[in-house]
Amino acid sequence: MSRLSPPLEGVVGGQAELFDDPRITWGFDNLGGIKGQTVLELGPLEGAHSYMAQRAGASRVTCVEANTTAFLKCLVVKELLQLDRCAFLCGDVLEYMAANTEDFDLCIACGIMYHMTEPVRMLDLISQRASRLLMWTHVYEDAALQSPQLARRLEPATEADHDGFRHRVHRYRYASDTRLAGFCGGTSQYSNWLPREELLRALAHFGWRDITIGFHEPEHPHGPALALTAVRR
Ligand SMILES: C[S@@+](CC[C@H](N)C(=O)[O-])C[C@H]1O[C@@H](n2cnc3c(N)ncnc32)[C@H](O)[C@@H]1O
Repeated sequence: MSRLSPPLEGVVGGQAELFDDPRITWGFDNLGGIKGQTVLELGPLEGAHSYMAQRAGASRVTCVEANTTAFLKCLVVKELLQLDRCAFLCGDVLEYMAANTEDFDLCIACGIMYHMTEPVRMLDLISQRASRLLMWTHVYEDAALQSPQLARRLEPATEADHDGFRHRVHRYRYASDTRLAGFCGGTSQYSNWLPREELLRALAHFGWRDITIGFHEPEHPHGPALALTAVRR
């Protein structure tokens, strides 16, 4: 669990600084602010970024979380921090986006795409729902294989197809992680990581422009990672 922001810093939580996350501040700034905007957040975990979106002036933040424990934590945080402009829904983000026709000004997809078995389907659905994107994700880069732990979990590239868009993915095996009490990954036994260049190609394919990359960490301990913002015209 993350450390809560003032005046709740005395509330016993964890140490992750997600309520004051520089990746999110960077993304909001990069997009020119989010005041008055509607936000769709995918996989809020504990509502830390939802809180940041409300504090930054979002008019409404709709958050979809599949993990029931995480969802309940979001509800606790909603009450603690009076997140009256945030709504938390329990369910699968792909099902939600496929069934819902509402348009959002911004989609926050932080820490979730690399948990998808169909990451390009996720990008396709985000593209149908939102006109701006703030994403942070692990991606496949060869640098990942320098870590013995990642090398054991990441498989060689295979071909995948989403609605005619052919691309490469690397299967990532969660192994026994799914049995850990605090597991906050995807809903399957594995996920598929997009290579960095395939992510950029997919974004261009779905009409995303003005792509800005930050926080590129090829040697992140959990795998190469980057944040990005993008706009659809
Ligand atoms: C690694 S955590 C990231 C949490 C937070 N967004 C952040 O960046 O710190 C991934 C979150 O996505 C949620 N998640 C994974 N797959 C999901 C899905 N298919 N639908 C909804 N939530 C999902 C997990 O339960 C978890 O809360």
